[in-house]
Amino acid sequence: MKKILIIVVLLAVVAGGIYWLSKTISPKGANKAANKATPVIVGFSLGDTITERWLSKDLPLFTEKVEQLGGAVNQVVANNNVDTQITQIRNLISQGVKVIVIVASDSQKLAPVVAEAHAAGVKVLAYDRMISNSDLDMYVSFDNVKVGQLEAQSVLDKVYKGNFAYIGGSPTDNNASLVKQGSMAVLDSKIKNGDIKLVVDKFMNNWDPTLAYQTVKEYLASGKTLDAVVSANDGMAYGVIKALQEKGLAGKVPVSGQDADLAACQRIIAGTQTSTVYKPINSEAYKAAEMAVALAKGETPEANNTTNNGKIDVPSFLLEPVSVNKDNLMATVVKDGFQSYSAIFNQPAK
Ligand code: BGC
Repeated sequence: MKKILIIVVLLAVVAGGIYWLSKTISPKGANKAANKATPVIVGFSLGDTITERWLSKDLPLFTEKVEQLGGAVNQVVANNNVDTQITQIRNLISQGVKVIVIVASDSQKLAPVVAEAHAAGVKVLAYDRMISNSDLDMYVSFDNVKVGQLEAQSVLDKVYKGNFAYIGGSPTDNNASLVKQGSMAVLDSKIKNGDIKLVVDKFMNNWDPTLAYQTVKEYLASGKTLDAVVSANDGMAYGVIKALQEKGLAGKVPVSGQDADLAACQRIIAGTQTSTVYKPINSEAYKAAEMAVALAKGETPEANNTTNNGKIDVPSFLLEPVSVNKDNLMATVVKDGFQSYSAIFNQPAK
C-alpha cells in the first residue's frame, strides 16, 4: 500500500514537472515571455487635432490593436504645426522606437525626417496622409479620389446645375488634392458645358471649419445665389451649414462631407447635411497597427496596392469608402457601431 502511494506521488510530481516544462518552452509561452521583456515600441506622431476623428477614433483604436499584439505606443501630438511635428519625430527616433507611424501635418515637409528615421534604422508608415518624395516603407489609407467622387456625386444627385461652391481641405494635405481630383472628375463635364458655375473654389488651411464658415458667409453676403456645396469633410460642412443657416438656407442647399462625424450624422438626420463619406476607421487603424508591428519585427507586411509619392511606388494598403445619406445611415454607420443610435438621437445636436 505504502509502495503504491509512493509511486502515485512520484508520478504526480513527474507529470507536474512535464506540464511546467511544456508551458515554459512552448512557442506561445516563449513569445509571451519575450513580449513582456522587450515589447515592440511603436511611435505614433499625430499632426492634426482639429478634426474629430483623430483623437476620438484613430489614436485609441490604433493603440488598442498594438497592445493586443503585445506592443506599446509612444504617442506625440503636434497641433497642426509641422515644425513641432518634426521635433517630436526626432525625439521618437532618439528614444529607440522601431517604427514610426505618421499622420502628416504637411505632406510636403516630412521627407527629410523620414530619411533621418531610416538612417537610424527606424521604419516609417504614413497613416492616412501620404508623405511626398520620401522613401516610405508603407502607406495605409482609403481611396481618397473615390472619397471626392462620392462627395460630388451625392450633391449632384440632388441638384444637377447652378452655382456650386467647392470647399476644399488643407493645401498642405495630399488628401485634399486627391479628394478634389475625385470631385472635379465628376463635375468637370457640367462645368465645361456651363450647367455648373463654380462660384467658390478654395482650399481651407487645416481643413478649418471657421474658414469654411467665413468663406460661405462672405459669398452669401454678396447677394448671389448658391445651389450646392461640395465640402471636402464634415468639420467644414459644419461651418458651411452655419453660414447657410444664418440666411435661412440650411436644408435647402445640398452639402456633402466625409468622416461620418457624430455631428454630421445628426445633421443628416435633421436634413441640413445631404451626405457624408463613411470610412471605417477601425479597419484603417487596425491594419496600420498590424503592419507597424510587423515592420518593427523586420517582417514585410502584405500590401494591396502601390502609390507613387513623387519618389517611389510606396507599398500601400487602401480601403474603400462608402457614401452615406439619410437612407443608408442606419445600415452602415450605425450597424457597424461607428456611431451609436443613442448618441445620434439622444445627444444634443451640434
Ligand atoms: C482625412 C480626413 C479628415 C481631414 C481633416 C484628411 O487627411 O483623410 O478624414 O477629415 O484630413 O483632418
